Amino acid sequence: MDKTFHIVTFGCQMNVGDSDWLARALVSRGWRQTPEQDAWLFVVNTCSVRDKPEQKVYSELGRLAAYQRKKPGLTAAVGGCVAQQIGRGFFERFPFVRLVFGSDGIAAAPDALDRLAEDASARIALLEFLGAYPERQDVLTLPGAVTPAFDADAGAPDADVPGKPAQAFVNIMQGCDNFCAYCIVPYTRGRQKSRAPEAVLDECRTRVEQGAREITLLGQNVNSYGLDPTATGTGADAAGGLGFAELLRQVAAIPGLLRLRFTTSHPKDIDPAVIRAFGELENLCPALHLPLQAGSDAVLKRMGRKYDRARYLAIVADLRAARPDLALTTDLIVGFPGEGEDDFLQTLDMMELVRFESSFSFRYSDRPGVAAQRMQPKVPDAVGQERLLRLQSLQNGITKQTLKALEGRETDVLLEAMSRRQDEGETFWRGRDPGGRVVNVRMPGERMPGADIAGSPLCGQMVPVRILEAKNHSLLAELCWGKR
Ligand code: SAH
Ligand code: SF4
Ligand code: F3S
Repeated sequence: MDKTFHIVTFGCQMNVGDSDWLARALVSRGWRQTPEQDAWLFVVNTCSVRDKPEQKVYSELGRLAAYQRKKPGLTAAVGGCVAQQIGRGFFERFPFVRLVFGSDGIAAAPDALDRLAEDASARIALLEFLGAYPERQDVLTLPGAVTPAFDADAGAPDADVPGKPAQAFVNIMQGCDNFCAYCIVPYTRGRQKSRAPEAVLDECRTRVEQGAREITLLGQNVNSYGLDPTATGTGADAAGGLGFAELLRQVAAIPGLLRLRFTTSHPKDIDPAVIRAFGELENLCPALHLPLQAGSDAVLKRMGRKYDRARYLAIVADLRAARPDLALTTDLIVGFPGEGEDDFLQTLDMMELVRFESSFSFRYSDRPGVAAQRMQPKVPDAVGQERLLRLQSLQNGITKQTLKALEGRETDVLLEAMSRRQDEGETFWRGRDPGGRVVNVRMPGERMPGADIAGSPLCGQMVPVRILEAKNHSLLAELCWGKR
């Protein structure tokens, strides 16, 4: 097989990070990343969190099967959460799939792919969970291992002109021990395993040296970093007793790092020291994604979330006392088994009490093997759909009001890429403010000192702006050099 590859990524930021690592590792071994029509190897990195993303994987593989009939020899590798779930089943259903790898197996995927390129009959499954965080080959400093471009459909930034990686995502842990009743993640990503702090700090330093201005620390449940009770040399031992708050402090102290973020947090584990950090660490951004999931105590209990409304509201109050401009966002599920209209009204009520800036809301989706699969009664589709619309319409109103309140304010934007929006004679760049809100910045060339607006030097620059106008889900701004 010719060593050309194309990666399609579904799912969360962890999968995006995994695909990025795999692409760098392959490029450093002499593989070439190509557009889809030139690739002999397709890597499909998959998500299983709800039924819909799982179905997308089968339709993508169905599409590749049709393509493979025209291009015999085309090979696919399936990674991520659906691969962990279905495993070797993919070999039977789609014979051109010759590698399946799970979240721990990915560390060995580059070797496996080299073998497949040599041996056309080989089939490899990398599905074992390991006892400790599987530290992967450091690909950041290898020659040739540049950040490859991502497939625009795969959840990558919706940019027209990608630029230098001003933002980096750094894994600090893998897996999850919470077993929330609806969630498949603990089965697909395995038990929680913290990564050694030296490895986290080394990667962060390298990223900053390579031009990253913003780092997001990643894990399914970052607040329990270092608390995993696993075998010697892992978890609490690996983290050397260092908790998440201390890790944040050490990363924040890296010279040249302008912004630090982290995701995702579980409310039950948020430490007072982490809350205080929002008021103390200058480069820790005032933004927190704190999944609430439901507003009814009875539903939270059945979900196994281990906090109630009162506790969640108390955390929010403490956070806002530490950092009054904190932008809070959340995840919500409607139609969990047994959710009645009264329960749902409690979710609407929490939305109004907390006034989240934005939220991701989902209809409950039955996943194989999770506790909620056996819970009754299931909420009918039409009822779930209607609740979702009511919830989203309430959120849209709140989002609009919170964005509107920012009009006229001055803030900083870290530019990410040229924006889709380009008006005649004007260039717009897209970036984010410290709260994580998307800002489109108007760029009249003459007022941007030392930058070439046609190229990428703007990318990764922090610029001062004034917010001109709130759009439905983003902000429009102009530069305001020297006006402050
Ligand atoms: N570890 C993260 C997020 C995991 S998945 C956390 O705990 O916050 C991302 C979101 O998907 C969850 O927050 C939840 O809102 C949603 N989700 C997970 N399983 C789901 C299911 N079976 N049906 C609908 N939504 C689900
Ligand atoms: Fe899933 Fe809960 Fe773990 Fe998040 S904390 S990944 S929702 S089990
Ligand atoms: Fe999806 Fe797995 Fe991430 S289920 S959300 S890709 S952890």
